Amino acid sequence: MSKVLVTGGAGYIGGHAVLALLDAGRDVVVLDDLSTGFREAVPAGVSLHQGDVADSTLVTRLIAAENIDAVMHFAGSISVPESMAEPGKYYRNNTCATLSLANACVEGGVRGFIFSSTASVYGETEICPCAEDAPPAPVSPYAASKLMSERMLADLESAHPAFRVARLRYFNVAGADPAGRTGQRNPNAAGLVKLAVETAVGKRDTLEIFGDDYPTRDGTCERDYIHVSDLAAAHVAALDYLEKGGAGTTLNLGYGRGYTVLELVAALEKVLGRTLNKRRAPRRPGDPPRYFSDVTRLNATLDWRPAHDDLDEILRSALKWAGALA
Ligand code: UD1
Repeated sequence: MSKVLVTGGAGYIGGHAVLALLDAGRDVVVLDDLSTGFREAVPAGVSLHQGDVADSTLVTRLIAAENIDAVMHFAGSISVPESMAEPGKYYRNNTCATLSLANACVEGGVRGFIFSSTASVYGETEICPCAEDAPPAPVSPYAASKLMSERMLADLESAHPAFRVARLRYFNVAGADPAGRTGQRNPNAAGLVKLAVETAVGKRDTLEIFGDDYPTRDGTCERDYIHVSDLAAAHVAALDYLEKGGAGTTLNLGYGRGYTVLELVAALEKVLGRTLNKRRAPRRPGDPPRYFSDVTRLNATLDWRPAHDDLDEILRSALKWAGALA
């Protein structure tokens, strides 16, 4: 039977995708250089190849030896501020590495390719909800590196119709596997939910609220938080869609509604049963005020419905994984 190659499968989102694939009865192989991933994130019975996705000799060998028919590509660099300081790293690890991997996939006869992209390709958009056909306007090298990859993959697909690509633009991914099998292990991950959870467990004194004068209902930024297990399941649905003959596509992955920073923090405090130390801080440069997904195309394309569309559940799973709740 053919197998699915998951690059970055020892990481946070890739690790949840591995579980979603196994839960769907798929055979999985992981390729991860373990630079930010963890060996223990790869479930027993799944082979982990430690290496670089840009190593085309390795990838070509893997595709042939493991009979790889589909690839989910999560490996890459993910920090917006780091991308401002080290843009070259982002174009190398994201854009160039994706090109090398995709070329090896085309040559190796891989048919389905699921690409991990980001809603930050929309940039500081005035249009909300964001639809996939909105003009992209990336404002960071991170977002630009992902948008360039999307474009290259679309061109490869046009030239090689047997190679079909789903480009998935993630909104704000949070939470942990409801069964507690995996969660966020990276100590350097720095999203709002991660930092709030670290404050809850005492790893951090105070949670800063960046900006309280945005044009939103309470002055703080609004985001579309999606449970990582729903996001992972949507990848499996995207693969099913391509395998059933669906055309390559670009899809938002979000729930289609936003919560503000203050709403999220209040929900977390309620789940936790106590308040967090927090303080107002200046705006963080580059934060768009409001950002949530238009889910029309997602709902029309994939046979997928969210199973965990509940902010409290997202936060409870993240707190449990961090040991803040029984
Ligand atoms: C997130 C992703 C980014 C993705 C984007 C798509 C992370 C770390 N980043 O960016 O990769 O492209 O969604 O929508 O998941 N905030 C605070 N205090 C904090 C941290 C954050 O107030 O200590 C605020 C931020 O100002 C922002 C909101 O919380 O308004 C969310 O921030 P963050 O979790 O960093 O995610 P995004 O910047 O939205």
